[in-house]
Amino acid sequence: MRKKVTKAIFPVAGLGTRFLPATKSVPKEIMTLVDRPLVQYAIDEARAAGIKEFIFVTSRGKGALEDYFDQHPTLEQELRKKGKDALLETLKETNMESGAIAYIRQHKALGLGHAVWCARRLIANEPFAVMLPDDVIAAETPCLQQMVEAYEETGGNMVAAMEVPPEKASSYGVLDVAEENGQVIKVKGMVEKPKADEAPSNLAVIGRYILSPSVLQNLNKMKHGTGGEIQLTDAIAEDIVNENNVHGFRFRGQRFDCGSKAGFLQATVAFALARDDLRDDLARYLEDIVHIDKAAQ
Ligand code: G1P
Repeated sequence: MRKKVTKAIFPVAGLGTRFLPATKSVPKEIMTLVDRPLVQYAIDEARAAGIKEFIFVTSRGKGALEDYFDQHPTLEQELRKKGKDALLETLKETNMESGAIAYIRQHKALGLGHAVWCARRLIANEPFAVMLPDDVIAAETPCLQQMVEAYEETGGNMVAAMEVPPEKASSYGVLDVAEENGQVIKVKGMVEKPKADEAPSNLAVIGRYILSPSVLQNLNKMKHGTGGEIQLTDAIAEDIVNENNVHGFRFRGQRFDCGSKAGFLQATVAFALARDDLRDDLARYLEDIVHIDKAAQ
């Protein structure tokens, strides 16, 4: 029997400079898509996949993120008094069982690989997930759950993968494909942010990973890679050399890059259109402005 994946690492130490000035005082992960912070989407997806322990790798100025998961007795009392049961129910999703959530500080911004490595003492000899909350994935079956199901067959390491236009490949970790087998892709190498003409494929790594503890050992070597940073991609690729499997997984769903303003806006519209209470008004508004825009041309 394969060990179950019950722990997830959420690297959330980044400064979020692309969203300044907002991120001067609000952690990027607390920015809201409709009415839920980015991190709530990641937590919901993790829970659906069977994750029981949530490890956040944070940095200075992320207090609001830690507070978000606390109970808020005065607010709850107020809502109860006013009979706002639906809102009380919504708040429940934000609460964590005591001891199920841990915050580890990344003291220096040395890269994604380093952030994951910071959580090493909380991962025993077991597989673990890594989720990047910037990558929001709308899917019927949540992406990490799809991966956990596929991982039960493959073992080893698994990364979410998606085709991107060739000119965009240099913004991602990119897979060197050994063999395609439907949704599962056997990988023979991985390159972090390759030069445009050096990308081994147009299959990009998206921020969902299921990793073997050996990746943490690879990270122990503290090898600096692209951009002088300690890259998670390199530590996973090293596992291939050590003959541990790495698979890419073509998930079903739509990914939004909420680390960029355009992606964040697109996600906001998509998630709002998926809501019964917002769809009609927003759709009408969008139709109107598209008409106005066309008429002006
Ligand atoms: C990180 C990873 C990269 C991956 C990407 C997915 O890059 O290093 O391999 O493709 O997330 O969003 P970042 O976007 O943090 O530069």
